[in-house]
Amino acid sequence: MSTTRIAEAVSRLRCISCGTTPDSAAQDFRCAACGDLLEFFFPGWVFDPPDPAALKALWLSRRTSRDRLDQSGVWRFRELLPHISEEHAITLREGNTPLYSLPRCAQAAGVENLHAKHQGMNPTASFKDTGMTFAASSAHHAGFRWVACASTGNTSASMAAYAARGNMRSLVLIPEGKISWGKLSQSLDYGALTCQLRTDFDGCVSILNELVRQKPVYLLNSVNPYRIEGQKTAAIELMEQLAWQPPDHIIVPGGNLGNSSAIGKALLEMRELKLISRLPKLSIIQAQGANPFYRSVREFGGKKLEPMTADTQATAIRIGNPASWKKAWRVLEATGGEVEEVSEVEIAAAKAEIGADGIGCEPASAVTLAGLKKLRQRGFVKRDEAAILILTGHLLKDPDFTIKFHRGDLFAGTPHQDEAAQVKHLQRAPVELDANLGAVIAVLEAAERNS
Ligand code: F0G
Repeated sequence: MSTTRIAEAVSRLRCISCGTTPDSAAQDFRCAACGDLLEFFFPGWVFDPPDPAALKALWLSRRTSRDRLDQSGVWRFRELLPHISEEHAITLREGNTPLYSLPRCAQAAGVENLHAKHQGMNPTASFKDTGMTFAASSAHHAGFRWVACASTGNTSASMAAYAARGNMRSLVLIPEGKISWGKLSQSLDYGALTCQLRTDFDGCVSILNELVRQKPVYLLNSVNPYRIEGQKTAAIELMEQLAWQPPDHIIVPGGNLGNSSAIGKALLEMRELKLISRLPKLSIIQAQGANPFYRSVREFGGKKLEPMTADTQATAIRIGNPASWKKAWRVLEATGGEVEEVSEVEIAAAKAEIGADGIGCEPASAVTLAGLKKLRQRGFVKRDEAAILILTGHLLKDPDFTIKFHRGDLFAGTPHQDEAAQVKHLQRAPVELDANLGAVIAVLEAAERNS
């Protein structure tokens, strides 16, 4: 590990509702006094904050290091994380994800300055790896043999990989028939014990919560505050990529709401430590069929959340009872962000547009562009403001969705059929031809005439 004169941060746990500060967390990571979620805080930062210029220089210097922790885009920022000793660190060199410009998407959304931070470029192809490296390491540190999660597919893929690297067994609970093959195949290959339960994601969560109370199994869902700490680093890395000049807007998809909470927490901490001088507005986008947080904010001012039965083809965010909604509301309020909901067709169109910029993502990630268009139309995002989309998963996570969209099958026979006719121009179905040069040239010339 590289040497540093910056003192290690001392962290404590605190309940987000009643403020209790327990010395350790129970197996379900709920506050023993009131049952709400826990979070880490760093008491030393109030009177003895680390020097922001020294932190920036240290993190930059680690980019040329051969040390495995320095090479991780999560552990590189360890001064802002709770302490886990190096011998327990399980890393796949996660983080270090690219920031891409999106010129065509910018035009479609009516903004001048649009970029995507592509968290799908992580080792298991989703943003989950940044939280998982840290939380799986905490499980290793605590000596667990089994780790477990309920998942819509990405958490489970990530957990299975990190458990395997750390010589731990992993138990995956996923909703039967409602996760993509790409994600399922990952957890099988990484050696997880994979249970497809005849319920939805929320049903899987309930069973897992009971299980961890009865068995020595370490919970790796995002109620685990170590997950949030690891996921924070995406925002730190983003600010470093932007030379510590915050954008006006950051836009994230909302499912269980761990990611928005983590990014928001990082923004607030970076401002507290004077790493950045102002806060970007953090906005959260949900699918219309899985919009409990959108409704919570719109109908109840974020004070209450009514669980719902969720349904969307963006299966990663098919979640009706998000665990971290209070944390997400707090960061939305603190940063002045907004919520939006987008339709199934809007998601599919935005996904094809992100693909057409040569980037690509999975459906749940594309809600960000669809949401940006709405926020722009409402005037919340201005034409000349800088916006960053957080793309959470790789295009290849869900090829079925993509192929169905381009073949025109995604909405056939659904209530969205008529709306889908309006985005037909984005479809690029494969052309089946005889093995004949003349036929290929004819198609090429027709394509050129139409472009
Ligand atoms: N995007 C993708 C690709 C996801 O997999 C998820 C969540 C989200 C967005 C939403 O993030 O839950 O932090 O608000 N996937 C979880 C899973 C629930 O089990 O893989 P969130």
